[in-house]
Amino acid sequence: MMTELERIEKEASTCVKCKLSRARTQVVFGVGNPHARLLFIGEAPGFYEDQQGEPFVGAAGKLLDRTINDVLGLSRKDVYITNVVKCRPPNNRDPEPDEIEACHPYLQKQLELISPVIVCALGNFATRAILGKAVNISRIRGKSIEKNNYLVVPTYHPAAILRNGNLIDSFQGDFKLMKKLLLEDRKPEKVSEQPTLF
Ligand code: URA
Ligand code: SF4
Repeated sequence: MMTELERIEKEASTCVKCKLSRARTQVVFGVGNPHARLLFIGEAPGFYEDQQGEPFVGAAGKLLDRTINDVLGLSRKDVYITNVVKCRPPNNRDPEPDEIEACHPYLQKQLELISPVIVCALGNFATRAILGKAVNISRIRGKSIEKNNYLVVPTYHPAAILRNGNLIDSFQGDFKLMKKLLLEDRKPEKVSEQPTLF
């Protein structure tokens, strides 16, 4: 039997709700644990993601994986990883407002069905999408923000770390904060469902 999340992924795989459908190779819906307590949101699939159908498999993804491993002691299978828009913008341009809006219901459904404790927003686009307002990532990062049923932790996009190595300490610091928040979380229904850290 298909889960609701699988059903929506299948539905999204043929989506033509915005113009990004025209140039994509395939829709990159998201990967990982459908019961993850930590969900990452990036910006949009790039070249390799569009080819492979999986988010964050290029250089930025390697850095993300490594930080998930080193700081959280987890692998990408333990968490859930997705993007603000599920199709690659041509030449990796920024996603446009109409595309972000058209794709938003998929992100909302993912959040509703996965129901994470922490939502890590990677960069400006993800943070804007989740908080619903314009932000500057370097000003807003370094703390958690309560939003609906989860804690939003905005941090730099890993591609920004690759461009500017000085940001790595802040990036790792934000992962340490997430680790602390995950260990502090004692919601009874989560503990009984998932007795381990994830
Ligand atoms: N950058 C993103 O924002 N998302 C990906 O999936 C890959 C790179
Ligand atoms: Fe559909 Fe989102 Fe792809 Fe646009 S980006 S075609 S809304 S799945």
